[in-house]
Amino acid sequence: MSTDELLHLKDVKKYFGLRGAPWRKSGAVKAVDGVNLVVRRGETVGLVGESGSGKSTLARVSTRLLDPTAGTVEIGGKDVTRVRGRKLRPVRRKIQMVFQDPQASLNPRQSVGTILTTPFRAQGIRPTRAQLVELLRQVGLSEEHLERYPHEFSGGQRQRIGIARALAVKPDLLVCDEPVSALDVSVQAQVLNLLADLRDELGLSYVLVAHDLAVVSQVADRLAVMYFGTIVEEGPAAEVYSAPAHPYTRALLSAVPVPEPGAKRERIVLTGDVPTLIDPPSGCPFRTRCYKAEDVCATTRPVLEPVAGGEHRVACYFPEGDVINQRLSADAGDDTFSATTGTSVPPR
Ligand SMILES: Nc1ncnc2c1ncn2[C@@H]1O[C@H](COP(=O)(O)OP(=O)(O)OP(=O)(O)O)[C@@H](O)[C@H]1O
Ligand code: SF4
Ligand SMILES: [Mg+2]
Repeated sequence: MSTDELLHLKDVKKYFGLRGAPWRKSGAVKAVDGVNLVVRRGETVGLVGESGSGKSTLARVSTRLLDPTAGTVEIGGKDVTRVRGRKLRPVRRKIQMVFQDPQASLNPRQSVGTILTTPFRAQGIRPTRAQLVELLRQVGLSEEHLERYPHEFSGGQRQRIGIARALAVKPDLLVCDEPVSALDVSVQAQVLNLLADLRDELGLSYVLVAHDLAVVSQVADRLAVMYFGTIVEEGPAAEVYSAPAHPYTRALLSAVPVPEPGAKRERIVLTGDVPTLIDPPSGCPFRTRCYKAEDVCATTRPVLEPVAGGEHRVACYFPEGDVINQRLSADAGDDTFSATTGTSVPPR
C-alpha cells in the first residue's frame, strides 16, 4: 500500500442492532453496507448524500470512533480495524474529526484552554501556553480567548475552536462531518475558507461530509456520493459535478441552483418509496425511486465500475452519459421532470 494513502476503507460495514420491544422486527440497521474509499495525501474528498445515507456513521468508523461490523480500516498504511484503547493513540495523531454541532461537541463547563489541552493529554503530552495560542492563531482566534467558555462565542467561533482542538495533535487528515451546516449562511463561507487556508498552510487532507453538493463541489478534489449505506458514484469533483452518471447524483444536482442568470437545470423530482435500512430492496438500493429502473435492477446490486475507463466510477446498470450542463434550460415551463417510478419498478 502506498504511504500516500492516508485512509483506505475496504468493504466497510456498520450495522446497528435493533433492541427494544419484542414486537419490533428483528434485524439490523445497515447504516454502512460495503464501502470502499481511498483518501490520498493532499486530497479533499467530499462525501455527499441525503439524510440517513450513512455519512456520519462512515465518518465515525473512519476515525475509529466506532468499530466496523466488517471490513478493514487502514490509516496511514496500517490496518487499525481492531486497534483499541491506548494503542489508538498513534491513530488519533493521524486522523481527527470535526463535528457538525460545535455547541454540542464542546464541553460548556470547560474553558477553551482546557478544551484545547485535552487532545494533548490524551497523547500523554503537557502543552505549553504558546502551543495553545498558536492553535488559536491558526483558526483566527487569539490568546485572550483561552480563558473564555464556549457560551461566550458565536457559532462560527465555536466551530473554529472545534477545528483548533482537532488540529492540536497535528493530524494529516481531518474528517469534517457537516462542519458548516449548523452555522448561519453568512459565516459558512468563512469557516470553509479557514479549512482551505489550513489545507495550504499545514498540508492537511480532508474528508468533507455534507448534504449540500454545491458546498462540497467548490472545495473538493473528489466527490463520493452515498446512498443507502453505499457509495453509488465517485470521481474527480469537476467530472461528477458536470457529468453525473448515477441517476441519484443527477437528481441531487438538479436541485442545486445554477449561477447563470435565467438558466435553470432540468429538475428531477424523485417520487418513489424511500426504503428502510432494515429491509432494503433487492438489487440496486435506489431502484424504488429511480426513473430508469428496469427488471435487471432488482436482481443483483450493481458495483462501482469506471465510466469511460477513467477514475470516475458509478454503480448503475444504465448510467447517464451526457453532460448535465448541456441540459440547462432557460424555459421554466418544462424544467421539471417527474421521476415517477410507479409500476415500472419490478417487484422484489
Ligand atoms: N447508534 C445508532 N444506533 C442505531 N441506528 C443508528 C445509530 N447511528 C446511526 N443510526 C442509523 O443509521 C442510519 C445512518 O445514519 P447517519 O447518521 O450515518 O446518516 P447521515 O447520512 O449522517 O444523515 P444526516 O445527513 O441526517 O446527518 C440512520 O438510519 C440512523 O438512524
Ligand atoms: S441500477 Fe437501475 S435502479 Fe439502480 S440507479 Fe441504475 S438504473 Fe436506477
Ligand atoms: Mg450525519
